[in-house]
Amino acid sequence: MAPVRSISWENNRLRILDQTLLPSKIVYLEIDRVSDLAEAIVHLRVRGAPAIGVAAAFGVVLAALRSSAENMPEFKQHLRHAANLLASTRPTAVNLFWALDRMDGVVDAYPGASIRELAALLEKEAAAILEEDRNVCGRIGEHGAPLLRDGFSVLTHCNAGALATAGIGTALAVIYKAVQSGKTIKVFADETRPLLQGARLTAWELGQAGIDVTVLCDSAAAVILQQKKADCVLVGADRIAPNGDTANKIGTYGLAILAGRHDVPFYVAAPSSTIDFSIQSGREIPIEQRDFREISSGFGVQTVPDGAGIYNPAFDVTPHNLISAFITENGIQRPPFKKKNNP
Ligand code: MRU
Repeated sequence: MAPVRSISWENNRLRILDQTLLPSKIVYLEIDRVSDLAEAIVHLRVRGAPAIGVAAAFGVVLAALRSSAENMPEFKQHLRHAANLLASTRPTAVNLFWALDRMDGVVDAYPGASIRELAALLEKEAAAILEEDRNVCGRIGEHGAPLLRDGFSVLTHCNAGALATAGIGTALAVIYKAVQSGKTIKVFADETRPLLQGARLTAWELGQAGIDVTVLCDSAAAVILQQKKADCVLVGADRIAPNGDTANKIGTYGLAILAGRHDVPFYVAAPSSTIDFSIQSGREIPIEQRDFREISSGFGVQTVPDGAGIYNPAFDVTPHNLISAFITENGIQRPPFKKKNNP
């Protein structure tokens, strides 16, 4: 079965699968206001670095289409306001800022365009970003698939699949392509505390695609690696520094240490747009801190006594020397990354 389609642009609205309700409910939201989209990003209704980028690009289109501005300065101010709102939603995934920059570039590139023309050009650019993401996902999958041998078991963390992109995912694209080429692949999915993207999303998405998946609590990953039950670890990324330091879902760093300790290859799959050439190392990556209630009363059940402190970073940074290789749409790469090799 083909991987699920989680984000699309239909009838001047952004259609997203509400990921907060998975796996028990499949509900698509039709978003036509930037403020609703910002809410959806903050609450992870749409999530995953590439999908957030695509969503933000269409957020600018929504602002353009719904604008009642009567002159260009007002229109541009309206767009700027929307872009600022979207940029304030989540700080770590660079794809959000990358997509907003591309949309900004369109405004700068057509100084003589009318409001109508600019709105159409912005829609065209957002559609291109979505199409490129689909294409890039496929290429990541094709480049990465040869790393997985027939019969391999792969340990993954969070969700870097179709739900996190406009295409077939990044880390999971590698698995989909390997399976498509006739290999039997088994997946271990960390449940991924506190929001359970592994248990709720990766297991659901792989199940839909007919791929063998086993969910484990995050703390069981050490045993899986110690007992060599997984042949490699394969994860996505939210932001990669040119030196290879990589931000991804909280818990990724621990997994990388475990993989290194047990001599299991640790791969990161991501589009080249996830590389942030404006920084030098992972120390400069902003880490999102999320609401304490995700830990103290996740999914509506209180599990931490009142008064206890809560620490809830959404991401961590894995140092480059713990990463065996990067799988991008441009091939298997190792840092330092150069802009000319990742246009
Ligand atoms: O907080 P989330 O669910 O948006 O975090 C997502 C991840 O950490 C993914 O691994 C990453 O964005 C890569 S998605 C292709």
